[in-house]
Amino acid sequence: MTNEIDFAWPFAPRGHGFAEDVLDGLSRSEKRLSCLYLYDAVGSDLFDEITRLPDYYPTRAETDILSAHGEEMLGEEMLDGAGEDVALVEFGSGSSRKTEILLERAPRLALYAPIDVCGSALEKARVRLSARFPHLRVTPIVADFSQPVALPEDLAGRRRIGFFPGSTIGNFAPDEARGLLLAMRILLGPGGRLIVGVDLKKEPSRFIAAYNDAHGVTAAFNLNLLARINRELGGGFDLSGFGHQAIYDEREGRVEMRLVSRRRQTATIGGRDFAFSRGEAIHTEDCYKYAVDEFRAAASGAGWAPGRVWTDAEALFSVHELRAPAAGPGAIGSAASF
Ligand code: SAH
Ligand code: AVI
Repeated sequence: MTNEIDFAWPFAPRGHGFAEDVLDGLSRSEKRLSCLYLYDAVGSDLFDEITRLPDYYPTRAETDILSAHGEEMLGEEMLDGAGEDVALVEFGSGSSRKTEILLERAPRLALYAPIDVCGSALEKARVRLSARFPHLRVTPIVADFSQPVALPEDLAGRRRIGFFPGSTIGNFAPDEARGLLLAMRILLGPGGRLIVGVDLKKEPSRFIAAYNDAHGVTAAFNLNLLARINRELGGGFDLSGFGHQAIYDEREGRVEMRLVSRRRQTATIGGRDFAFSRGEAIHTEDCYKYAVDEFRAAASGAGWAPGRVWTDAEALFSVHELRAPAAGPGAIGSAASF
């Protein structure tokens, strides 16, 4: 591995360590836990289950878009015979199911580097993809992509295409999202491209159904955060004392997920007591939604040239192509290339 980042990282890291972040987040007057910690092995499996729910339209819509337009997304680099020199770098790859759709359309692609905080999800995906695409070198990276990521040596000298599906960009506030897009531009290097999935603004009832699913899987996904604190930090949360809540804040353009205390109670973590009043909430996730032009403006603000945009038939979801300027005198990120 090599760490090529030798300039100021343009983005405040999301995580500083599970224990430290949990104790800090629960000490605040408005309690919060980072959505980064939703994805341990149990949480990643629950998220996988969410993606198969009829109400959770983003996965279905994005999969339709990738199936219909995947060739256009990767075609250029592959068609000119240079596929062997191209690496696909994915941010928050999870199960890598959507990536398979792209890989099927890029048989010459030589290298795939999925980045995720969840090691078990990465390993399951590596085993499946290596069996299905024997020619492809898969080099998983367990890392928080909001911090400088050490990339494998064999990415050196290769053109990089970034893939950031799922609307995970929406789990960052707009100013953070711009910083993250800038960080990705630097990591992918001059002339790099990013294919990014973005959930679109729409009728709020669709959000409410998607994030309060009738099967209770999203509730289990959210509550697993407290279960994880119990497992890993010896926490004393009584899970039956908290309920899942998801609301859409139209002014902010975001779904907010919370865990709401059903009664007055105290939870002890690492010898520290945290008191909850009845109805008090722990904020666990924001999911920002964009209009197509809003996202293009955010990408421009991070120095990307917005390119093609694909949407599904119902215009629920969008996939954007972003292009980084080629290297030139004074280009930001030129220090990042090997
Ligand atoms: N790309 C998949 C999974 C989306 S779920 C899809 O589109 O279905 C979000 C994924 O991003 C999870 O696997 C989670 O572990 C990962 N993730 C979220 N924040 C991350 C971060 N800061 N660094 C690395 N991985 C992150
Ligand atoms: C991964 N991320 C984009 C999902 C979302 O829709 O914001 C996480 C999720 N939270 C609840 N359901 C799904």
